[in-house]
Amino acid sequence: MKVLGIIGSPRHGGNTEILVNEVLASVREEGAATDVFHVADKNISGCDGCGGCFPSGVCRIKDDMQELYRKMEWADAIVFGSPVYFNYVTAQAKAIIDRTFCYLASRRLQGKVAAPVLALRRIGGGQTRVQLFGWFISQGMIPVRGAIGYGAQKGEVRTGVGGGINVTALEEARQTGKDIIAMLKRLSK
Ligand SMILES: Cc1cc2nc3c(=O)[nH]c(=O)nc-3n(C[C@H](O)[C@H](O)[C@H](O)COP(=O)(O)O)c2cc1C
Repeated sequence: MKVLGIIGSPRHGGNTEILVNEVLASVREEGAATDVFHVADKNISGCDGCGGCFPSGVCRIKDDMQELYRKMEWADAIVFGSPVYFNYVTAQAKAIIDRTFCYLASRRLQGKVAAPVLALRRIGGGQTRVQLFGWFISQGMIPVRGAIGYGAQKGEVRTGVGGGINVTALEEARQTGKDIIAMLKRLSK
């Protein structure tokens, strides 16, 4: 079982990174191999709508998305983390989403398990989660519930609540790891 964490926050050491790393620690305890991709170090431009990836399945833009394509294709499951910025994912996370247009032709994300992980101060978690579920479904991925953590300053999700009832954000992240493993095992039967 191979699980990739994508951290869609432009800052290092932030709440999204903490939550995604918690999910990855949880899946490693269940025997999965993990890898991570953090947008803060990367240069990923938006899709320019050239249409060249239909039907080739290959994006011609040579930037750090090429590294992420390889990592996503390696993974059986993808943990997609983003802070909420003005009620939706960050610009960096949306650039990644749009650059997977090539996978509509190649269907290389189809059947992978996908989990949304969100960090936010207060408002927009529900619709941002729906935004990610919409992308997962468009790509034929299999969604699990995921995790939402509340906090504004770096590290606040460590002590903050999760999106569920009577659960901390870190507990929800660990449960997300367990849900991913359970889904992967179910699918491999
Ligand atoms: C440009 C910008 C827009 C934001 N918009 C929202 C928002 O719409 N709703 C919200 O609850 N928090 C919003 N926040 C707060 C972040 O979601 C919050 O600080 C989050 O924990 C940051 O995650 P990070 O530490 O992984 O970068 C915004 C922050 C920034 C910088």
